[in-house]
Amino acid sequence: MVRQSKALPSVAAAEYVQAVSQHVSSVCVITTEWDGERFGLTATAVSSVTAEPPRILVCVNKNGITHEKILAAGRFCVNVLTEEQDMVAMVFAGMGGQEVDRFATGRWTRLATGAPALEGAAAAFDCVLGEVVDQSSHSVLFGDVVATRCTTGQDTLLYGARRFRQLRKVFQAQGGGENDYLF
Ligand SMILES: Cc1cc2nc3c(=O)[nH]c(=O)nc-3n(C[C@H](O)[C@H](O)[C@H](O)COP(=O)(O)O)c2cc1C
Repeated sequence: MVRQSKALPSVAAAEYVQAVSQHVSSVCVITTEWDGERFGLTATAVSSVTAEPPRILVCVNKNGITHEKILAAGRFCVNVLTEEQDMVAMVFAGMGGQEVDRFATGRWTRLATGAPALEGAAAAFDCVLGEVVDQSSHSVLFGDVVATRCTTGQDTLLYGARRFRQLRKVFQAQGGGENDYLF
C-alpha cells in the first residue's frame, strides 16, 4: 500500500512541538524495579490500547535512565497522578536534580509485579512488559495489565500548553453514568 504522506514533507520538529503542546493529557509516573532499585519518570505519552486484553502503552525516551531498566525488568507500573501529587510529577521529571531520591516524595507500595505503586494515585496500572516498538528517540512500550488500584473522588492532574492544570476548571470530575464515554 502506498502511503500518501510519503509524498509530503514533514513539518519541522519545533512546529510539531508547538502544536502537540496544545494536547492536554493526564500526568503519570511510570515506575519499575530492577536489581533491588526503584526507577521512574513522569510521562504524559500514555494511552489505553484495549480492554480485552487489558493493555496500555507508554512512550519512553531511550536516552533516559528508566527506559533500559523497564526493558531489563520486564515490568512497569503506570501511576495516574491526582492534583495533590503535582510535586511527585515535578520530582520524577527531574526538576529536583538528578541526584535526588525520587521515591522520597510520595508513599510507595507494590501491587502484583513489584513495580512501585503510588499510594493515593487516581489509578495505578501494574503491567508485564509486552511488545516494544522502536520509534526514533522513543520506544513505545506495551503493558499487559495484571493489577489495578484506584482512588476515587480525586481529580487527576493535567498538563497542557506547557503548564500543569486542574480538571475542575474544565468540568466536574464527579458523575459518570450517561457521560461515561470510555469504551
Ligand atoms: C509534563 C511532562 C511530561 C513528560 N512526558 C514524558 C513522556 O511521555 N515520555 C518521556 O520519555 N519523558 C517524558 N517527560 C520527561 C521525563 O519525565 C524526564 O526526562 C525524566 O527526568 C526522565 O527520567 P529518567 O532519566 O530517569 O528516565 C515528561 C516531562 C514532563 C514535565
